[in-house]
Amino acid sequence: MTTSPPAVHTLRAGMIGLGMIFDETYRPFFEQAHATGGLYDPRFGLCRVEFAAAASRTGSRAEAYRKASSGKVAEFRNFAGNDSVAELLKSDVDFACVATPDDRHFAAAKAVLEAGKHLLLEKPSVLSLQELDELERIAKQKNVLAKVVYHKLLDPDHKKLRTLVVDNELQHVNNGYCTLLEPKSISGSQFAEWITGRNPGTYVAGHYIQLIDFTFGGRLKSVSCTGQRGLVGPADGPTWDSNQLRLIYEYSDGREAAFDIHTSWVTPDNFPGYVEQEVQFRFDNGVWNGHSRKRGVELTIEGSTPFKRKTTVNNHYNGTFAEPWGERSQRGYGIEVIERFVREVAYVEHGGPAGERGKRLSEMQRLGYNDLAADRQTVAAVQAMEAILAKHVEGHPNCVVEVDSSTGGLVLLVPGSKEPHVLYPGRVGK
Ligand SMILES: NC(=O)c1ccc[n+]([C@@H]2O[C@H](COP(=O)([O-])OP(=O)(O)OC[C@H]3O[C@@H](n4cnc5c(N)ncnc54)[C@H](O)[C@@H]3O)[C@@H](O)[C@H]2O)c1
Repeated sequence: MTTSPPAVHTLRAGMIGLGMIFDETYRPFFEQAHATGGLYDPRFGLCRVEFAAAASRTGSRAEAYRKASSGKVAEFRNFAGNDSVAELLKSDVDFACVATPDDRHFAAAKAVLEAGKHLLLEKPSVLSLQELDELERIAKQKNVLAKVVYHKLLDPDHKKLRTLVVDNELQHVNNGYCTLLEPKSISGSQFAEWITGRNPGTYVAGHYIQLIDFTFGGRLKSVSCTGQRGLVGPADGPTWDSNQLRLIYEYSDGREAAFDIHTSWVTPDNFPGYVEQEVQFRFDNGVWNGHSRKRGVELTIEGSTPFKRKTTVNNHYNGTFAEPWGERSQRGYGIEVIERFVREVAYVEHGGPAGERGKRLSEMQRLGYNDLAADRQTVAAVQAMEAILAKHVEGHPNCVVEVDSSTGGLVLLVPGSKEPHVLYPGRVGK
């Protein structure tokens, strides 16, 4: 009996923004896909993945990467400057990943979708529901995937939490807290160029908003937020050191849960881990305590920890390893989430007869863990948080945003004022 060789396809990738997250997760994915010859699935055969083009403001990191990456990825084109995104999209790419600063996601994402390319967008996807509506509309019209990276959903600990909830072993979440504290180097050097007017809540709370939203379901009812200023910028200015966000959810039985999410980017750099990440969720019948930094490893190397290497190492997100079988690897859920997206694109384009592409596309669009259409409550929380912080800067602290009230989808209430301010008139919940 003879067997026919598997089909061979190629997907060409464009990368918009080549900063820290490109280096941590996208770069290792593209290098692995190149080294191993691509991704295999019995439904689509072998799919090669080529890193084909880069677009960024100056092009300098892409140029440095080109020099350092010889033989590790295919030859790629490097576009820089104001027209870089448009030029990348004119080149022959099948999908594009957007990893620009968060207030520059929308313009790049819109251009990707309008060009009819599949989109992978870093978190937080966009900063308003108006922007989300527009991206959703274009993705539908162009029949392409529009997905957002929430790698914390692929963290094995969070998968276990969700499994216990899905299986009803942990019953009815009551309340909880999450903290994600970034080191000062993030606000002081890494993001120094674009940090004015920004806040760590928008930068990282999205991970936990999405974790809560996806794991427990329910309807987002209200959002409140405060924070501290004075280290990254002036104490009365628009740039925040740390934020405390509170979300109230309501479930189908009428019961409510409150979640507090604390974020910062001014934690001292000699902190023993890269990022402090802790969650606690309380249920009718249990408590889940998770600490992503203290997962059991404590490392000391003279002259190295905690600056060059961290004392508590996260080996799950994105670690470099000497594998027992002799290979060197870089692996973890931060990379797995990108591979998963590319597999979804490969399945849509090559996972069966061309006439059934629409069916495969809908199947992948129904995956609520990463589809933009399922990102509504997370974007609503981010939009509300940004509006509350802006009012705070104007001298009106302690505002609350109500979700899907009788006056609108997102309604900002200012203490002492009878005038509601509608941030989003449509319904948040679908
Ligand atoms: N998934 C995660 O856990 C995670 C972690 C870090 C960052 N991020 C997200 O990734 C995004 C980028 O973060 P980073 O840490 O890599 O930032 P960075 O500042 O290191 O890099 C930003 C990149 O975007 C480019 N850029 C800026 N404006 C641009 C524009 N208008 N057009 C094209 N390119 C532009 C810059 O040239 C640079 O290459 C942010 O949205 C951030 O929230 C996600």
